[in-house]
Amino acid sequence: MKGIILAGGSATRLFPLSKSISKQIMPVYDKPMIYYPLSALMLAGIQEVLVISTPRDLPMFQQLLGTGDHLGMKFDYIIQEKPNGLAQAFVLGDKFIGNDSVCLILGDNIFYGQGFSGMLREAQANKTGACVFGYYVKDPRAYGVVDFDTSGKVLSIEEKPAHPKSNYAVPGLYFYDNSVVERAKRLKPSARGEYEITDLNRTYLDEEKLNVKLFGRGFAWLDTGNCDSLLEAGNFVATIQKRQGFYVSCIEEIAWRNGWINNAQLQELGKELDKTEYGHYLLSLN
Ligand code: G1P
Repeated sequence: MKGIILAGGSATRLFPLSKSISKQIMPVYDKPMIYYPLSALMLAGIQEVLVISTPRDLPMFQQLLGTGDHLGMKFDYIIQEKPNGLAQAFVLGDKFIGNDSVCLILGDNIFYGQGFSGMLREAQANKTGACVFGYYVKDPRAYGVVDFDTSGKVLSIEEKPAHPKSNYAVPGLYFYDNSVVERAKRLKPSARGEYEITDLNRTYLDEEKLNVKLFGRGFAWLDTGNCDSLLEAGNFVATIQKRQGFYVSCIEEIAWRNGWINNAQLQELGKELDKTEYGHYLLSLN
């Protein structure tokens, strides 16, 4: 399975910060925001990742993440000229995806909680249809919203509905079989002029190929869309890390635990950062 991180689009609610630097490169506590979605792909066991971003920001991601070699991974990069919608990722990523299945994650989505790796591996192992997730929120109107019956069968999925049929928002994490590429090519732009991921998901729903897995109450899906939520996400990560001593979304640690890099390579990465707490943490791992 391949992975795609979409790290572009608008971040107008962070203006003027986002005028000068991509939101996804800003730190959430002690690491760039994009490390969080990247770590989710890694926990799913995905080693080949395509980063999609704007002409302005893509070089920054390339500089930050490089070829992926240092993590035992392979990174590719492609420009999205305009924020034309999430579903365009699969058209842009056509060649990269090839004959594989694919997972898309949004560059500003942060997931944290027990059992996450297991859910990711399960979704990753399923090679037909699509899998999205549902997360209960007080006000789902800013999101895709999924409604389902008591047996878990999806009844509807709607983008930013004024009158949501449920409280379950769909986070920016999606698993698809290879037919997603052709489906994405057939989509028409929505009223807001975007190729909507929700329309793409509806093509699977219409064929009864859309699965939904729910994140429970103890799970954190964090938003970083405005200044307050960005600060809150940083505080959340700091709280967990200081209390437990384990780092949240430490990509070098995950690569090492996945067996993609060895002890010596991890030490090297730690040494490069040995003037930082982050580096000390890497050096303490083995
Ligand atoms: C997008 C999707 C929406 C999803 C959300 C998750 O919204 O369109 O379905 O729930 O990401 O973050 P946008 O960020 O474009 O408002």
